[in-house]
Formats: sequence, C-alpha cells, structure tokens
Amino acid sequence: MAAYAADLLSDTLTRPTAAMRAAMAGADVGDDVFGEDPTVSALEERVAALLGHEAGLFSPTGSLANQLGVRLHVAPGQELVADQQAHVLRAELGAAAAFSGITSRSWPSERGLLDPAGPMSLVTTGVGPYQVETALVVVENTHNFGGGTVQPIEAICEVRSATEHLGVAMHLDGARLWNAHVASGVPLAAYGEQFDTVSVCLSKGLGAPVGSVLVGSAERMGEARVWRKRYGAGMRQVGILAAAGLYALDHHLERLSDDHARAARFAAACAESAPGSVEPGTVQTNIVVLDVGVVGWDAPHFVASLLDDGIRTYAVGPGRVRAVWHLDVDDAGTTRAIDATTRLLAKRSD
Ligand SMILES: Cc1ncc(COP(=O)(O)O)c(C=O)c1O
Repeated sequence: MAAYAADLLSDTLTRPTAAMRAAMAGADVGDDVFGEDPTVSALEERVAALLGHEAGLFSPTGSLANQLGVRLHVAPGQELVADQQAHVLRAELGAAAAFSGITSRSWPSERGLLDPAGPMSLVTTGVGPYQVETALVVVENTHNFGGGTVQPIEAICEVRSATEHLGVAMHLDGARLWNAHVASGVPLAAYGEQFDTVSVCLSKGLGAPVGSVLVGSAERMGEARVWRKRYGAGMRQVGILAAAGLYALDHHLERLSDDHARAARFAAACAESAPGSVEPGTVQTNIVVLDVGVVGWDAPHFVASLLDDGIRTYAVGPGRVRAVWHLDVDDAGTTRAIDATTRLLAKRSD
C-alpha cells in the first residue's frame, strides 16, 4: 500500500485499529438473516435509540441504507427532491431510478447549505394524473460535496413543518451526522426526530471498516429488511462487523473534534496564502474544499502536484479540490499538508 505524508482523499480510508480488530474478533455472532446475531441487534438498537427512532437495520453501505430509505417512501413514478450536489443524486449511480423507478429533481445551493425555499420550490402534491407527485425530501448532513457543511436545525425543522401536512416524507442522509452533532452540539435525536428515516455511516469518520445503519419505525424497518434481502444484502454472521461499529461509537465519536480542528488549521493557512481559495468560517467539520481556480490552477493538475509531495486529495470539480481529515491523519501529517498546499497555492500553474 502506498504511504502518503497525509492521505486526505477521504475519511473512508481509515483502517481498523488493533483494539477495534480485537473487539471484532471477540464478537458474539449468529445468523442475522434469521435475526439471530446478537451483536448486529445490539448495534441496530443502539443507533436507533441515539437517533430517537424505534428500530434500526444494519446495511453494508451508506448507499444501500439511503436506497432502502428512499424505496420505503417513494413509489415507482413518484419523485424525490434533493440538493443538486447531494450524494443520493450525484454518487449513487442513478440507483433510485435504476432499482426503484423513482424520478428526481434538485434545488441549487451554496455549499450544500439547506435553505427551506429550495425544497419548497419543488415539492408538488395533489396534482392528480397531470404532474409527478413529490413523495420525499432528502437532506444531507453534513454535506459532503458542499465541504462538510452542517445543516442548521432551524432550517430542517422549517422544511419538516412545511412538508408534514402535505404527506411528504423526509429522509436524512446522515453519513456524517456524527460530525454535524460534534460540531454543532445539537443532540443526535434532535436531528433524528425531524425525519421519517435516517441513514448513518460507521465507515467514515468513525473508522469502522464497513457498515451503515438505517433507522425508522419498527414497521418501516421490517419492510426495509425485506428489501435488503431482495437486493441481495441479507448477511449472516456479521456481528463481526457490527462489533467494529459498536467499538467506534464508544471510542471514536468525541475525537471527531480533532479532525475538525485540523481541517480548520489547514483552511486558515490556505486562506492566508491564497485569499479567496477558501473562507475559513465555512469550514465547520472535517472537509475542506479549496477553490484552486482563483490562483490559476485547474484541479487535476493541483491534485497531481500535491501527490508528488505525498499529499493525496481529490478533484471535485474543474477548479475545486477536496481534502478530508480522519483517524489516520495526525498533527504532523496536517503540517506536511499545509506546507505542500500553501507552497502550490503561492505558485501559479505553468
Ligand atoms: C453523504 C454520503 N452519503 C452516502 C454515502 C455512501 O456511503 P457508501 O460509500 O458506504 O455507500 C457517502 C459516501 O461517501 C456520502 O458521503
């Protein structure tokens, strides 16, 4: 495996620690398709309780947890609406359309930040056989492509109260809800109660090798269990994986604030070196999106040049480069990343 001075490609890169591996090796297991894996059940119950919901369902990926949530609320031919940079629209490879016959529309946003006017300009109900009926609003918190943006709870509540009486459901893509909670101090359940279903990932900042959990009512999770099996993701002795998630909740949740502090330090240094490349006040969690176009770079060249210095990042647009902090990047790695990035920002592309 390549060794980097700092690997900022994604927070999905983390490798399980020795203590996490020990917890996995010692897990009590059973056949989860028969509902007999005690460690999976413990994880599902724990995450559901944290988010203030009745029941949970373990899923191998965040994409599947989202797609199960979407499937529960939207019938074929109906639509979901989401921010135009939402993972569910940009990075799940058309799954809602391909698997479930669902159409989608999107609203524009700055940094993925939720403005209730966005979804409410799209939501369409009671239009009989003439127009597509909106069945679901999807909100992403934190917002990945938006740069780790934390959604204000007030905006979420406003969308909820506007959609509830229309019979339009809400699903939260909470792959990084843990980061939103740690950054904002808003309790997980306060986010959770505004949504009919919530998906959370254990395999991002929390550092588990795999795993997501979908939560909702017991009835909906029963239905999602059927769809999970139908999609081929009924799993057997996966307590061995769920144990990593339980370990991560015990040991890796509070430390997310370290990732946030390192990302903020990086953003401040970049802004000083190249004003306009990033607004430090907008860096709320573990993700920094740099506008390298303001200093004449295009993103793929910037990413390639950083790689020569052992710093791995990701081009998220023609002039935009993303860097993500996680369990495997420490203060020294952050300093190396700052040195290499500010040097490049100060030097225009040739
Ligand atoms: C916001 C968001 N939702 C969902 C996912 C999907 O997770 P997975 O890669 O486990 O399918 C990701 C992955 O990066 C994500 O960033």
